Amino acid sequence: MCADWKDALSSIVASYDPQQIVVVTTTAVYAARSEVAELGYPVLQLTGGETGKSLAAVQQIWDFLLDHHITRRGLMICIGGGMLTDLGGFAASTYKRGIAFLPVPTTLLAMVDAATGGKTGFNYRGLKNVIGTFYSPVQTLISPDWLTTLPPRELLSGYGEMLKTALLDSEALWSRLLQLDLDRMDIAELVPLIDACVDCKRAIVMSDPHESGLRKALNFGHTFGHALEEMSLGAMPHGYAVVYGLIAELYLSVTKLACPRQPLLQLTQLMLHYYGKPQCKCSEHEQLIALMQQDKKNERTAEINCTLLRRIGEPVINQVITPAEAREAWEYLFSL
Ligand SMILES: NC(=O)c1ccc[n+]([C@@H]2O[C@H](COP(=O)([O-])OP(=O)(O)OC[C@H]3O[C@@H](n4cnc5c(N)ncnc54)[C@H](O)[C@@H]3O)[C@@H](O)[C@H]2O)c1
Repeated sequence: MCADWKDALSSIVASYDPQQIVVVTTTAVYAARSEVAELGYPVLQLTGGETGKSLAAVQQIWDFLLDHHITRRGLMICIGGGMLTDLGGFAASTYKRGIAFLPVPTTLLAMVDAATGGKTGFNYRGLKNVIGTFYSPVQTLISPDWLTTLPPRELLSGYGEMLKTALLDSEALWSRLLQLDLDRMDIAELVPLIDACVDCKRAIVMSDPHESGLRKALNFGHTFGHALEEMSLGAMPHGYAVVYGLIAELYLSVTKLACPRQPLLQLTQLMLHYYGKPQCKCSEHEQLIALMQQDKKNERTAEINCTLLRRIGEPVINQVITPAEAREAWEYLFSL
């Protein structure tokens, strides 16, 4: 976490030619935050939202870099939520075989998850992040300043990913998160929790940067969550989809691995109170299962691979589930 992100940025940009620095952001962040224009570098504003995380947007970034004669020594600063840092990271990793990339996450979700860990990508043919790279940024500048303008729905979305991290980490972090007053999210109270989630993610990523083992645990909740997000055609915030996915995958953790029921019941209460029920019909199960069979985490065609929990702090990766088990978990979620 930076005490002052502008100071931290100044010391990083000092080692680059100022003519070789550009900023990529979204129109919404640019409009909401005058700091972006005040940096004084050329700015590309992209259309935000999950549908904007496309190959066409990647091409816009490549064109912008070429138009500004950015060389391999250039620096791209990406200021935005996870959609933008994923997209910008991908464009930076492929332009001239890779230029320096500095994400400045402006949403809670991007701070605790998307902008940490080096995964980049965009959506293609309706599938989430199906084209992407692993690419390490120069640094990730996390600052709570951005959260002051973030709508409550986006704070709740980020909190969804924090819940996932806590379930992977420990009972202690889980109970600290549950104590947060979600009706009045206090940024000062959030800061140590953001730090704890980032530390947990960094430790997992450092032990397995390319997701051949333990890092798969970070996908907890995402096999079901991504299918819902894809089905909503980008309308459902990512962290909401993760909360619904966590409920389905905690249900399977209880039925398949005898995980204690308490976290499932606690999360269900939170969902009903703050997130609302997922807007899907039972008749859509088969479509959701087909989307799960296309998930990039699967190692064999048409299988469904999940991370489940034996207990809080003890994830079990590579759990193959059958279509019948997936259907049962969807039915549980939609029955709540
Ligand atoms: N790379 C990874 O490891 C990883 C991990 C988790 C999620 N993700 C990706 O992250 C994306 C979701 O990220 P997100 O939830 O940040 O969504 P987002 O980037 O779409 O941002 C959400 C909304 O908040 C607005 N916004 C952003 N910052 C703001 C600010 N400071 N003030 C006011 N409004 C602001 C944006 O304009 C947008 O409307 C998904 O595409 C998901 O796949 C990636």
